[in-house]
Amino acid sequence: MRKLAAGNWKMNGLAADLAEIEAIAAGAPEGCEVLICPPATLLARAAAFGLAVGGQDCHAKGAGAHTGDLSAAMLADAGAEYVIVGHSERRADHGETSEEVAAKAQAAQGAGLTAIVCVGETEAERDAGRTLDVVGAQIAASVAGLDPARLVVAYEPVWAIGTGRTPTLEEIAEVHGFLRARVDVPLLYGGSVKPGNAAEIFAVPDVNGALVGGASLKSADFLAIAKALAAA
Ligand code: PGA
Repeated sequence: MRKLAAGNWKMNGLAADLAEIEAIAAGAPEGCEVLICPPATLLARAAAFGLAVGGQDCHAKGAGAHTGDLSAAMLADAGAEYVIVGHSERRADHGETSEEVAAKAQAAQGAGLTAIVCVGETEAERDAGRTLDVVGAQIAASVAGLDPARLVVAYEPVWAIGTGRTPTLEEIAEVHGFLRARVDVPLLYGGSVKPGNAAEIFAVPDVNGALVGGASLKSADFLAIAKALAAA
């Protein structure tokens, strides 16, 4: 399975921060793909460094009266090869359903992009023992009808994002094994991946990479994670 170290910059990054992306492009190891998803305002300039870049969301429609939204074709036109869809922050902040996520992923693939579809349970859902039910329902609805050749799935427990907390390695293995039985595509783990925990997470069966938020903003941290993946 191919390996992918993906950085999600979220709503962070101004022109002054392009130096971090340039450094990531210059230091990216052989042995895994390295991707940065900057804010859309920086996409074209980031792509110029020769690194793979992606969007953080796209609209399900190709064009039209949708003020403030971006189509998958626009992202591709700006140099994107990937787009994240269904991140838990989009599901929470914008009420995106798995059906909408599937439509966005479909649009992404239609524009030639690889869709990174995110799934993951909340803390209350995990505490209630519902993790596999929730993730199972999300994956079934979110990837329906998609082309596996241009699909990546990221398992991101909502309670692990930006908190410094991570599931145990056994818990990650359980969910990734569950996902592997359903989709034969690269599976990323996301949620508080740091240089200090990357190697042990990448040693978990069926973990093919990471979706990294905070630690992708600094080139040294993100390159350390990418190197751990390349060596895994
Ligand atoms: P984090 O975010 O690495 O800052 O926890 C991960 C994500 O939301 O993709």
